[in-house]
Amino acid sequence: MGRVVIIGFMACGKSWWSKKLSESLQIPMYEIDDIIIETENRTIREIFTEEGEAYFRNQEEKALQSLPLDCIVSTGGGVVEREPNRNWLKKPENFTIWLSVPFQQCYSQLVVGDNRPQLTRKKLEEMWRFRQPLYRECADTELQLITLDKLISTIKRRKHV
Ligand code: S3P
Repeated sequence: MGRVVIIGFMACGKSWWSKKLSESLQIPMYEIDDIIIETENRTIREIFTEEGEAYFRNQEEKALQSLPLDCIVSTGGGVVEREPNRNWLKKPENFTIWLSVPFQQCYSQLVVGDNRPQLTRKKLEEMWRFRQPLYRECADTELQLITLDKLISTIKRRKHV
């Protein structure tokens, strides 16, 4: 079936919906942030502070390239920042679903913890705006009102699961 890749801004629900999909379709799920944390043996906040964003983005790119076929992939919100990652998302074996959630909703769900850099609301909103066309460019489909049934029917229409 290839991969189902979930993209979207921080706190739009990528991990939550990916887990639900993985349980429901009985397909393994990979969380890109978790692969990086395991490989680096430190938190994302530490990686950003100690090495800078460019280093993190390199690790993100490597993690994507390491994925097997036939899985659900939950990406980090910034995956679309790098051109090689955008090209990877557009590969024919990836069915990329954009969870398109308004900024205010993402912001209200956003918990700043070890896995996110500390950013102001203004900066986050700028990032959200900047990334909208990038998510659109990479997505095979955009979902605004997300339910498990809708996700599954979208995938089944595209892939033989
Ligand atoms: C980032 C989003 C985070 C994580 C890192 C950078 C971003 O993932 O990859 O903190 O630049 O949007 P979530 O989207 O799961 O929060």
